[in-house]
Formats: sequence, C-alpha cells, structure tokens
Amino acid sequence: MRIPQEKITEIAVSNDIVDVISGYIEVKKRGKSFLALCPFHPDKNPSLHISQQKQVYHCFSCKAGGNVFSFLENYEHITFIDAVKKLAERAGIKLEYDSSKPDISSEISRMYEINKEAAVYFRNNIRDLKSSEKEFVNSYLKSRGLDKKTIDRFGIGYSYKSWDGLLHHFQEEDVFSAANIESSGLIIKKEGSGNSYYDRFRGRLMFPIFNENDKIVGFGGRKLYDDDTGGKYINSPESKIYNKSRILYGLNFAKEKIRYSDFVILVEGYMDLIALSRNGFENVVASSGTALTEDQARLLSRYTKNVYLLFDSDAAGIKAAKRGIEILLETGFDISIISLPFGEDPDSYLKSKGKNEFEKRISEKQSFINFIGDIYNKDNKLGTVEEKTTFIKEMIGYISKIPDRIKRALFIKEISERYRLNESIVTEELFRILKTAGRTSFPKSSVTLPEKDTVRISKEENNSNKFELELIELFVHGDSEALTYIENNLHIEYIKSRSILRIAECMLDELINNGAVDVSIILNQLDEKEKELLTKVANSEFESSPLDRSASDNLLTKNSHPVYNIKNAQDLLRKFRIRELEIKRSEYKTDPEKYLEVFNISKQINELMKEGR
Ligand code: GTP
Ligand code: MN
Repeated sequence: MRIPQEKITEIAVSNDIVDVISGYIEVKKRGKSFLALCPFHPDKNPSLHISQQKQVYHCFSCKAGGNVFSFLENYEHITFIDAVKKLAERAGIKLEYDSSKPDISSEISRMYEINKEAAVYFRNNIRDLKSSEKEFVNSYLKSRGLDKKTIDRFGIGYSYKSWDGLLHHFQEEDVFSAANIESSGLIIKKEGSGNSYYDRFRGRLMFPIFNENDKIVGFGGRKLYDDDTGGKYINSPESKIYNKSRILYGLNFAKEKIRYSDFVILVEGYMDLIALSRNGFENVVASSGTALTEDQARLLSRYTKNVYLLFDSDAAGIKAAKRGIEILLETGFDISIISLPFGEDPDSYLKSKGKNEFEKRISEKQSFINFIGDIYNKDNKLGTVEEKTTFIKEMIGYISKIPDRIKRALFIKEISERYRLNESIVTEELFRILKTAGRTSFPKSSVTLPEKDTVRISKEENNSNKFELELIELFVHGDSEALTYIENNLHIEYIKSRSILRIAECMLDELINNGAVDVSIILNQLDEKEKELLTKVANSEFESSPLDRSASDNLLTKNSHPVYNIKNAQDLLRKFRIRELEIKRSEYKTDPEKYLEVFNISKQINELMKEGR
C-alpha cells in the first residue's frame, strides 16, 4: 500500500508524541518539557527528552531519536508502514483512500485535485471530439504515432479550441472556485474585467506533467493549429506544486527502470521521451526544453550515476548538451552521449529507422571527451595550434567540474595521451582553473558527497561545524520572517558537513513546498545519523543554545527555547559569507598574482564584519 504523504502528515498531527509515548512508558512533565527513562538503553536517570512542540524525542545518552513513527518502529520493532497503520487506527483515520471524492482540505491538495480533474477532462475530450475538430486531432495523433495505449499511459489529452472549455467544465462541477483554478495556472483572469477568466490552453495537445509521486503538477500543451500564435509548447506557470527546475518529465514513469538498468537516457522533449518509451526504452526522462538544472541533476542522482545524453544534433541541441554535461559532471555523474544523424531527433529517428538501429546508436555511445572532440573535428577546428589550445582548454574546463579527484586525474591522463600533451602541463592548467573558479572540493550532490562527515576546510573546522548546527537550529526555531530570509539567501555551498547539508536540503524543500518546516515530517527522509543530529537540535531547548549563550546562563530562561528572528538569520548568514570569503582568500594568498583579489576580499570581509557589529 502506498500511503500519500498528506495522509502521513495527517496521522502525525493526530497523534501527539507525548500522548503516544505515555501509552508505553511513564512520562514526566518537567517545566515545559517531558522526560522519561529511555526505553532504548538501560537508563537510570531520565535521559529521554520529548518535545511536544516539535513532536520529536531524543535520548541524550544513547542518541536514539525520531518522531512518533520512529518511536513505534523502535519500541515495537515494527516497520514504518505498520507504525503508520497503527497510529492511523489510534487516531481513527481511515487509510483507504476514497478517490471518488476530491481531497480539498488544503490549498496544496486542492491544486493537485484541480490538475487531476483537468487531466481527466482533457483526456476525455479526445474521446468526445466531434466532426472536423475530431478529424483534425485524430489525424495529428496518428501522424505522431500516438495510439490509445500511449495516450493512456501518459495521460495525453486535448484542450478544445475555445476560450472557456475547461472553465465551463469546472463551473458545471462547482467544486473549485475560479480563484483556486487560477492559482493552479489553468485559467487566466481577463485584464481589467473584474471576475472574468479564460482558459490558458486552447486547441493544444496536452501532456500532464507528473511529479515523482505520480501527482500532476502542471501541463505542457503542444500547438496544433497554424493560426495559434503562441509558442510551440506552452507550460503551466510555476506554482506551489510546480517548480520547473525541480521536475523532470517522465521520472515518475521511469524511476524503477532507471534503478534497475542503472542508467538513464536524458532527452529534450516530451515527444522524444514518449517515442522512446513506446519502443521499449523506458528508463528515460526529459528536461523539457529548459536547460538542465542542478536540482534536476540531484533528483536523478538518487536513481543512478550514469546518464546517456540524447539531444538533438542541431546547434541548439549541442549547446544544451554542453550545458547538461557541465551540470551533470558537477553532480558527479558519469556521462555518455548518444548521437543521431544531423537533423534527426529521437522521435523522428525511431520512426524512420526503428528500434534495432536505435539500439545500435546506444551501443555506440561516446564519452563526453570524444563527443566534444568530434564536434571540433567536424567543424575543422583542430588544425592550428591556437585551435587545439582552445579545444584542450574547453576540455580541461569540463574536467575541472568533476568533484572526484581521481576521476579528474584519469581524464587528464586520457586527453594528454590522446592529444600527445605533457600531462603535467595539462594538470597545471587544471589547477589554474580550479583555483580561479574558487572551487573548494565540496561537491553539491548526494552522489558525490565525501565519506567523512565533515570536510576539513581550515583550522577553523570546529567553528565551522558550530555555524552549521546553528543553521539547523534556525530552521527549527526560526520565525517565518527568519525562515523566508534563509530560504532566499542561503547558498547550499555554505554547508560543509554532509549530514547537515542533507538536513538543510530537506528543510529547504519543506519550506519551499509547504511554507513551513515540520521537523517530524522531515525525519522520515533522513538516515539514522542525520535523524539523531536533527532531533538533538530540535530538542535543544533543553541544552544551551549556541545562538543564545547568555540566556542559557540565566536559570529563568533556561528551558524556554528562544525564537530566532530575522536578525539572527542575517547574523548567521553573514558569518557564513565571511567564512566563504576567508576560504577563498586563503586560496588566493598562495598566488602572488592574486594580491589584488586578496585585497578586495579582505575589504569585503571587513565590511561584513562592520555590518555585524
Ligand atoms: P515535437 O516538435 O512535437 O516533436 O516536440 P519535441 O518534444 O521534439 O520538441 P522540441 O525538440 O522542439 O523541443 C524540446 C522541448 O523543448 C519540448 O518538448 C518542450 O518541452 C520544449 N519546448 C519546445 N518549444 C517550446 C516553446 O515554444 N516554449 C516552451 N516553453 N517550451 C518549448
Ligand atoms: Mn520532436
């Protein structure tokens, strides 16, 4: 059984952690906090702290910690799902999900419902079409090889060539207000006309865009009519549930296949993905025209480390491929490139050459080094010394993106040998690039995160870890203004500890998607070590807080945790910025040519410090 996240949240909020734990062991109230003998180790003095406010527990002695679900899992030795079921029962919540009734309990679930309803409507339109519109659409579907099976699998639909087809449909249903539908981007308010709306998608082939959990977050609509003056594709606007840089089209369909085959084919367009899938290549995702983002790369990295890029062979495709290569290398992927003859895209190639020829293309995939080399070769750009130099520098640029030092060294060796260059010169150039890019060796992705928890960056390591703990504390105890400030100003590169990075990412996700940080929900996404860290911080009201040393000396305030405001957030991020600058400065200091940069950085640091006072 797949239990939707909203259900899990509902169950969590309906089972107060203090009540639940009190059902198993004796819990004592001490001031604002709750204490118990820890059931997970032999405990003489109560060392299990329960935070009712944060809905988490933490043992300061054996480090056990978690939310209400993990308590049951560990206490009863049952699985997460069983814990969820038990607590659902305890709260009288039905787990069977009645899909005939839309869940309109929150803004987010309403948006999902609206998109779902719209998808059903668009899908039915294909069936219900009449006369000339029917002929036109059907012949288009046929020409694109979109048979019923494919249409069903991808939920493809059609928006009538009218101003209010969808609007009218929703008005008949009368479940959602026009304002609700507008916020999901499907209808648009007419300018200066009070409360009058019209459909965003008119006369288009509709592709629902699913998130990883099979929920529809928006649509891509392909132009069908010559008199349509809009772009070839129109997409739903970004919304609370649709963040373009974090969605990969088709990932929901492909994720199991990607894990299984341990590689993913990355294509540009909806139709490319659908053509591949129809031909049995199902481990495919599409970036849908936008340049691949770091977030998308990170999303993919959860399923595999191997990407085969399959982009159009025209100039735009090559440009997109190059940008994709950079992002993917940075995220720690191994990259191959599948090439098609000039002018073809995957859809057209499969149509004209068929599956077996395509299979051959896959087996002839190239390394990114050869791919770039071929481009230079084809353009006759490797003749002169200058041209070769440009080429080698571009290659080293890519290699410099790779976080793994050993891999970098192997690639350097490969291009040195292939182009008969002195390896130490190539290496020198690599170091020069690494230095000027100011790149520390801290990769941003989960695939390539260093083994050790904290990367040693300088003698100030202890200090650095302290900041990072403070950051988590801010996430947990910050007021909404402080959180917004963090959301807008935190750079993920600031964080050097692997565990804290993971926690911060989850928190940012929560913040962006739900507008608030719910510690007990985030815990479900963390590993043991990260859980321990987070529950400890969430319970930090029991300990002195690094942000609030003076208050902790005061017995009266000791147990009431402070709320962090925007000032705390600004101070903390300033410290992070200063640290980044200090790291950069110490790198530049080794290079006498960089004295001006060093001077400038010192100036910036001074200014930041002044601001802080
Ligand atoms: P067909 O032309 O129908 O075969 O679609 P395609 O998926 O092959 O499209 P194409 O290769 O031209 O573009 C790749 C992807 O870029 C598309 O799937 C869209 O996601 C996106 N795209 C293309 N044109 C536009 C446009 O005009 N606007 C927007 N927003 N996206 C576009
Ligand atoms: Mn195409």
